[in-house]
Amino acid sequence: MTGRGQHEKGPVVAGKAKLVCGQILIAEGNPLLDGPGVMRHESDGAIRIENGRITAVGRAAEIDAADTERVDHGRHLILPGFVDCHMHYAQTGMIASWGKRLIDWLNSYTFPEEARFSDPAYAREVAARTIDLKLAHGTTSFATYCTSERVSVDAIFEAAQAKGMAIAAGYTAMDRNVPEALMDTPEAAYEASEALIGAWHGNGRARYAITPRFAPTSTRPQLEKLGALWAAHPNCLMQTHLSEQVDEIAWVRDLFPDSRNYLDVYDAAGLLGKGGIFGHAIHLEDGEIDRLAETGASIAHCPTSNTFIGSGLFDLVGLTARGIPVGLATDTGGGSSFSMLRTMAAAYEIAQLRGQALHPSALLWLATEGSARVMHMAEEVGTLAPGSMADLVVLNLASTDDIAQATASAHDIWEAVFPTIMMGDDRAIAQVYVAGEAV
Ligand code: GUN
Ligand code: ZN
Repeated sequence: MTGRGQHEKGPVVAGKAKLVCGQILIAEGNPLLDGPGVMRHESDGAIRIENGRITAVGRAAEIDAADTERVDHGRHLILPGFVDCHMHYAQTGMIASWGKRLIDWLNSYTFPEEARFSDPAYAREVAARTIDLKLAHGTTSFATYCTSERVSVDAIFEAAQAKGMAIAAGYTAMDRNVPEALMDTPEAAYEASEALIGAWHGNGRARYAITPRFAPTSTRPQLEKLGALWAAHPNCLMQTHLSEQVDEIAWVRDLFPDSRNYLDVYDAAGLLGKGGIFGHAIHLEDGEIDRLAETGASIAHCPTSNTFIGSGLFDLVGLTARGIPVGLATDTGGGSSFSMLRTMAAAYEIAQLRGQALHPSALLWLATEGSARVMHMAEEVGTLAPGSMADLVVLNLASTDDIAQATASAHDIWEAVFPTIMMGDDRAIAQVYVAGEAV
């Protein structure tokens, strides 16, 4: 294992240079703020890959093809691999559990399943299965919660490393309001997290995320301990949940009567700042929005989860306009799909319910560069910029009969891609590359 800070360069992958050809979209800004014009379309595009990295991107005729192996994806659309900035790999096995809202859902389904991860063999099995599902759906990077067992963290980092993937993960700290089998202490969570940071943060492409589950399952001393740990390791990410459901917010108010609001619980413990990823953030007060904006913290928008658990309608447009970075996330198993295509569709539907139509360029940006920025990994993943690792997804824009007939008379790339966003699934994923290698 290597020390921290070595992830900036990623792995070196030897082999012949590749020229991967197809349609491409290159983001030259944030389409949510600047409009779809900042997403450049090349109908005959190419990406040159050397040693696992993108070295050139643009019109195929203008890219140096010398000494390359040409891989032609025809009319398929090549994008940065999808990035899922909030999920729970330990919930893979209980996705789509019926009939509960957040707190009952956690108690009925989530905690019993997470307790199974004290068995290292089960942890490794679910970790490997999750990685296979992510890649099948075109997701090449993600940030995941684990459980309060160290082996659950080792298992997912090892499974990602076996495929060369860049992920963030963290030991999920909980010292109250959970079953005995999941309960730790402030000290135990600190020690486990610190040891895991030493083992994994900057080990190959791995990043560590300090992970207090959420305010109701941590005492103030535990949150403060993890705040101190983040202060000691400021290059780590920090992930937690914020203001997902109204009942949960009322519970936080009872548990932390001295705090001004939900976010203030984290703020007072040193758990608010750049590198912080707050899941959901649906029911925010003005003061919370101000603090998120001031501190540079990010939000993970989890639209399939928000409809599935009945949480509410996230204000993507309003929070983005406030300068708060927002990424897109599945939140499986609270989310109801492993697919970032389905997740984009749900983001579109939620925005429609708020009277806003998100352009396909904005949806694609959120699922790639937007999430990569939230994870502070946009130098490495989420874009096609030269210097980035060549983690790519290749989309078949006519993967089923219903999508094919809808796109048959498309006038531009946006009409050609939107039916795949709304109706596509893993059948639309024609190829996935991790560090320049087809997987
Ligand atoms: N809040 C605290 N834990 C969880 C979780 O596992 N899933 C979701 N959706 N919300 C949470
Ligand atoms: Zn979550």
